[in-house]
Amino acid sequence: MKAVVWNGALKVAVENVPDPELLNPRDAIIKITSTAICGSDLHLYDGFIPGMQKGDILGHEFMGEVVDLGPGVKNLRQGDRVVVPFTISCGSCFYCKRTLWSLCDNSNPNAPAAEAFWGFSPSGLFGYSHITGGYAGGQAEYVRVPFADVGPYKVPDGLTDEQMLFLSDIFPTGYMGAENADIEPGDTVAIWGCGPVGQFAIKSAMLLGAERVIAIDRIPERLELARQSGADIINYEETTQVIEALKEMTAGRGPDRCIDAVGLEAHGFGPQYWYDRAKQAVRAETERALVLRMAIQACRKGGTVSVPGVYGGLADKIPLGSFVNKGLTLRSGQTHVQRYLEPLTKLIQDGKIDPSFIITHRLPLEQAPEAYELFKQKQDGCVKVVLKPGMSA
Ligand SMILES: NC(=O)c1ccc[n+]([C@@H]2O[C@H](COP(=O)([O-])OP(=O)(O)OC[C@H]3O[C@@H](n4cnc5c(N)ncnc54)[C@H](O)[C@@H]3O)[C@@H](O)[C@H]2O)c1
Ligand SMILES: [Zn+2]
Ligand SMILES: [Zn+2]
Repeated sequence: MKAVVWNGALKVAVENVPDPELLNPRDAIIKITSTAICGSDLHLYDGFIPGMQKGDILGHEFMGEVVDLGPGVKNLRQGDRVVVPFTISCGSCFYCKRTLWSLCDNSNPNAPAAEAFWGFSPSGLFGYSHITGGYAGGQAEYVRVPFADVGPYKVPDGLTDEQMLFLSDIFPTGYMGAENADIEPGDTVAIWGCGPVGQFAIKSAMLLGAERVIAIDRIPERLELARQSGADIINYEETTQVIEALKEMTAGRGPDRCIDAVGLEAHGFGPQYWYDRAKQAVRAETERALVLRMAIQACRKGGTVSVPGVYGGLADKIPLGSFVNKGLTLRSGQTHVQRYLEPLTKLIQDGKIDPSFIITHRLPLEQAPEAYELFKQKQDGCVKVVLKPGMSA
């Protein structure tokens, strides 16, 4: 089959690789109909996530049709259309029982590698380095899905791929980012990053009762999309003193809730940015935590900072004094995707949200290398690319 493989930083290719096979009784093989590129894939593309090996198949946002099933999967049939969470979860461990799906104790066969980095291992993830299991991803014609009786979610009749695909990751991620912000009626929520995750966080914050959302980025098309969702916007290239601007917009108090939907590759200006770039370049720090620092500094006293943006290692100069003395709450995590499948599908069915608003590009799987560049460089107004195996160019 054809698959998108990682061949080193800034090198992805579409190659012929062996078809996946059932390995365990609870496996399924899915024929991919739609798959997407995520901001998290850019961290791999740019070479910031350790544990990648040449030839690894990328992709953790995908859906398709069940074509083969192990004898242990009783809830699916061949021909079912399913969307697959990027988190691989066993369904029966301490964490799965508490719906903390991304913390599953049984799905990362390389747990010791993760433990060496983080103390404990999170769940396995599709297409996301050998630290989280080395599972082949879904930017391919077919994928093997372990614990297929737990993850894949059957698409209700009448819903299209484009409406359902983002339930695999970014819609639940934006939603959990907003939920983790503890939004109360009347709150002002500041959201850094108007990429796909930021866009879903904006819509979710509003659905969860935020009175006002302030979205921060510098890419005009992305800011425009945020504005269309009802957010006030700050272009940080024009308004460089973001914390001051947020203070002014909130009568001096600061936003009640701050969401970092940017993560470890934050862009910026000035000495702080170049300090991070330099330390990251010599591997003396793994993150450019500009946005996290700003979110902590900007948040009002007693507020909440929610971090859906991905961080992988160690960051410098986190303003812990501000965090402690302002009495802030900090919440984060890889998304517990399975928790959100049903309620968010209901929002789609009820017409409260149509996740396809985010798609700007639809390309054949074969054009993945161009698609990665387009998405990374934010060229041609690119906000989200959907790749379709079998689509003609
Ligand atoms: N927690 C999870 O489970 C989970 C799931 C999916 C994605 N993520 C993470 O969420 C983050 C965003 O993903 P995405 O797909 O939206 O990525 P993206 O790269 O498309 O978007 C990031 C946006 O942040 C903006 N940005 C950069 N520096 C900024 C700054 N200083 N201030 C304000 N905006 C800034 C960029 O211009 C861009 O629009 C990534 O770190 C990704 O890994 C986390
Ligand atoms: Zn993702
Ligand atoms: Zn589990």
